Amino acid sequence: MTVIVTGGAGFIGGNFIHYHLKAHPGDRVVCLDKLTYAGNLSTLASVMEYPNFRFCKLDICDREGINRLFDEEQPDAVINFAAESHVDRSIEDPGVFLQTNIIGTSVLMDACRAHGNVRFHQVSTDEVYGDLPLDRPDLFFTEETPIHTSSPYSSSKAGADLLVLAYYRTYGLPVTISRCSNNYGPYHFPEKLIPLMIANCLNDKPLPVYGEGKNVRDWLYVEDHCKAIDLILRKGRIGEVYNVGGHNEMANIEIVKRIVHALGKSEDLITYVTDRKGHDLRYAIDPTKIHKELGWLPETKFTDGIQKTIAWYLEHRDWWEEIISGEYQNYYQKMYGDR
Ligand code: NAD
Ligand code: TYD
Repeated sequence: MTVIVTGGAGFIGGNFIHYHLKAHPGDRVVCLDKLTYAGNLSTLASVMEYPNFRFCKLDICDREGINRLFDEEQPDAVINFAAESHVDRSIEDPGVFLQTNIIGTSVLMDACRAHGNVRFHQVSTDEVYGDLPLDRPDLFFTEETPIHTSSPYSSSKAGADLLVLAYYRTYGLPVTISRCSNNYGPYHFPEKLIPLMIANCLNDKPLPVYGEGKNVRDWLYVEDHCKAIDLILRKGRIGEVYNVGGHNEMANIEIVKRIVHALGKSEDLITYVTDRKGHDLRYAIDPTKIHKELGWLPETKFTDGIQKTIAWYLEHRDWWEEIISGEYQNYYQKMYGDR
């Protein structure tokens, strides 16, 4: 089949393309990406020349361009990874989040409708459920947990999710949604916690921990997420939401200390900085539905995954050093300069 993958020059989309081309070598994969600050063609360098791969620089909000691409490719499925994805940036400037995450999703689904009701999968996030208290470890997000967002980022993702479900009910578009917890692994842009701490450690720079570092995230190795999406695309029930995550909760400070120790650095690098506005306390997924229906379970333990990730950043300094040498410097100064 022909699959359009949007946002494939980003972290998870890029990992997904590598995974998909290996797992389904008979499929044609078309990557559509606007190449914002978060998109890196170098992530896709090794597959660029594959005969069954095509890259197309395109904005998901560009209705004409999207329809043209659908005319040319006649896709069987679309997987929408394209998004503005960083909570801190959404707090600074929400507008582009609404445009890409909500309007862009509707443009893609309109093209799906206009081209024979193409199968559509929306890659969403556990952040649409808001947060859980730190002192109630018995609570988890299920697919029935009410949407209750905190940041402009999560609100824009929730808006998109509601639209996706509306296109299913109103037009019968064959959709599914996955809501995943925090991912980590190769090709992760170094503005997010894990790659930022690895890069700063390697450069002996301060490690900026928000607040007291007690906020909890449920970490999943990116390849496990890719496998879940692939399963949902092929075997998931149409119109359904699937939570993806793996009972791997850790406080931010624990993660930062692990990275410091793994790289043989001193904890003196850790610097507590002003907390994020509206900072979600804890995310924790209950993955019972995807486990029972599709047999999915996370395969990579955090101890192994974080080791593999650190090794990847050590071996691919070119990839991330190029990223943090450009416009990122201005961003870093703005966000952390006098925090
Ligand atoms: P990312 O920021 O690394 O990549 C996003 C990609 O989308 C980039 O390549 C960017 O160029 C592209 N893009 C942005 N705006 C676009 C537009 N208007 N048109 C076309 N392309 C555009 O993000 P990521 O971490 O890979 O996340 C991918 C998806 O997964 C997002 O939808 C995000 O909400 C979701 N998600 C992420 C996580 C996580 O931990 N990173 C967890 C759960 C869900
Ligand atoms: P992040 O990777 O931005 O993902 P999200 O906010 O979507 O969960 O942040 C993960 C956690 O790490 C979050 O609680 C905020 C915290 N954090 C820091 O303490 N320092 C940092 O420099 C960053 C980027 C994040």
